[in-house]
Amino acid sequence: MKKNIVILTGAGISAESGLKTFRDNNGLWENHRVEDVATPEAFARNPELVHRFYNLRRLQLNEVEPNAAHKALAELEKAWQGDFLLVSQNVDDLHKRAGSKKLLNMHGQLRSIWCTSCDAKMNWENELTQTNECPRCRVKGDLRPDIVWFGEMPYYMDEIYEALNFCDYFVAIGTSGNVYPAAGFVQMCPQAHKIEINKDASLVSSYFDEQWIGPASEQVPTWARKILNS
Ligand code: OAD
Repeated sequence: MKKNIVILTGAGISAESGLKTFRDNNGLWENHRVEDVATPEAFARNPELVHRFYNLRRLQLNEVEPNAAHKALAELEKAWQGDFLLVSQNVDDLHKRAGSKKLLNMHGQLRSIWCTSCDAKMNWENELTQTNECPRCRVKGDLRPDIVWFGEMPYYMDEIYEALNFCDYFVAIGTSGNVYPAAGFVQMCPQAHKIEINKDASLVSSYFDEQWIGPASEQVPTWARKILNS
């Protein structure tokens, strides 16, 4: 019988591609708590600082490649018979570059910007500053990273809750369980078999039925082969 699967990924899946997770270094970036840089209030107070944080992360994408875990999920999607949904909290584009198609970036994307003047969202690969003008409406200084900040509503929530209601498997990979609503997804699908893949236990590990402990680049391909053969 066809089975439905929802997979949630976090920063841990991209760690072996060379992207730092959020809560490395005690969650500090240049002595700022990540939570203090990634808020609308921080952007209003000090837009240059917030732009710098995201510019560095956006430029870093030029230097990294999808790893074996991203590729295994893209392969799994191709071979999967039932409904498949990959929900990522990551703002990098490594799932997309690995070939994933049924993918929702619930926290936005580094290579997208949003004009708060005309509401357009556009691809953007370079640095963004307060002096940039919107390519659509020509207003200057109203462009921001298309990232869901703390206190803002993540994208695609209706689609995600719908898929959680009907999934047979829920799999969380490389996410620490610190940030809601994503950390609560595991409690929203009581009907599903719930699997956690992480190099350490997370804050919500006790809600899962099965644990795969180790680096994502090793654990995810092995787990994906197993579930396809089951
Ligand atoms: P975190 O930095 O909180 O957690 C990363 C998780 O990945 C931890 O549980 C690590 O144990 C695990 N991990 C690290 N390296 C790994 C590896 N090689 N293989 C497997 N697991 C590994 O990142 P997230 O949980 O993604 O939000 O953080 C959630 C959200 O908080 C982010 O999307 C971001 C952040 O602030 C926003 O920016 C809105």
